[in-house]
Amino acid sequence: MDSIYLDNAATTPVLEEVIDIMTLTLSASFGNPSSIHSQGRTAKSIIENTRKSIAKELGAQPKEIIFTSGGTEGDNMILQGAVHGLGIDTIITSKIEHHAVLHAVENLEKTAAVTVQYVKVLSDGSPDIDDLERLLQNDNTKKLVSLIHVNNELGTIIDLETIGNLCRKNNAFFHSDTVQSIGHYRFNLQELPIDFLVAAAHKFHGPKGIGFVFIRKETGFQSLLFGGGQERGLRAGTESVHNIVGLGEAFSHAYTNLDDDQSKIADIKSYCIAQLASKIPNLSFNGCCDDLSKSSYTILNVRIPMSADKANLLGFTLDLKGICCSKGSACQAGSETGSHVLNHILSEKKLQSPSIRLSFSKFNTKKDIDHLVNVLEEYISS
Ligand SMILES: Cc1ncc(COP(=O)(O)O)c(C=O)c1O
Repeated sequence: MDSIYLDNAATTPVLEEVIDIMTLTLSASFGNPSSIHSQGRTAKSIIENTRKSIAKELGAQPKEIIFTSGGTEGDNMILQGAVHGLGIDTIITSKIEHHAVLHAVENLEKTAAVTVQYVKVLSDGSPDIDDLERLLQNDNTKKLVSLIHVNNELGTIIDLETIGNLCRKNNAFFHSDTVQSIGHYRFNLQELPIDFLVAAAHKFHGPKGIGFVFIRKETGFQSLLFGGGQERGLRAGTESVHNIVGLGEAFSHAYTNLDDDQSKIADIKSYCIAQLASKIPNLSFNGCCDDLSKSSYTILNVRIPMSADKANLLGFTLDLKGICCSKGSACQAGSETGSHVLNHILSEKKLQSPSIRLSFSKFNTKKDIDHLVNVLEEYISS
């Protein structure tokens, strides 16, 4: 039985073209980009060309794009750099961030002279803008706002422009974890009032262990890593040339085909919503994920009322039937703490039902959805 992959927010299948160009780079362009001989210069030019194309697509300057090992490093780099290098005293974030932000700010609160404040989150998974404004105007400390663009569990999209303008008005820096949106949405960083963004290639059919941060040049951001001075002194260490090439190839495919892929995937998501709603009694959608104007076309988080015994075996059953998706639910087995995101937005009663996160890519078909819905229907009625 072929497996049906509905866990694209966790990671995506790597494109054949990406694998091919990475393999070629590993064998043909193995030079150290810091070496001045021809092999080194070839590797260096591959990196700089990739940087330029990414910057061009996003409306950034090449020097504002810094390659990292992915989303976790990017978020940590920005948050730690803001506190240690930019003199940030207060970080305003939310309780439904990815752990790459949440645990990084918790650690900074313990180890550095920084206060962390959490903006109220509405039941749809979006930040309460009035509360954010109140927090921004609370005192005169130097502030950084860090809010996730597309929530990786709920799919809720926040309005970067409104929040960015609020930050600008209140002289605060603005960072957004855009790991689930870069490669899936267009950005124009010439216009968007944002200082820092983060991307990971494996969320858009590229390799794992590579990503980039956007650091607006006016911010005066300082390096946290000391060594060979690579990446314009902001991220020392020999660059992973084959990974950068793979990232560049995946990025270029993502934006060349963006309009078609967006409408294809949105169609799959809408079909999934309609099928689940009509065939599974009492099923609910968490956050606002069934509203495509407020949530990403890639993510759907559903809650299915069922007995505790059945809930315990839901993940196992789906896996056995060849369906790969994520459990997005709180303590069904009693031994897990569950999703911090759902724990934050759902009532105790709603948390009793299991939730699953389905996340789509261009490789999914309506047949995949039919299979999922059949398996769920059978399991519920068994
Ligand atoms: C929103 C978000 N931020 C950060 C990360 C971490 O990225 P990486 O796995 O590249 O370290 C992820 C990955 O799941 C994510 O979804």
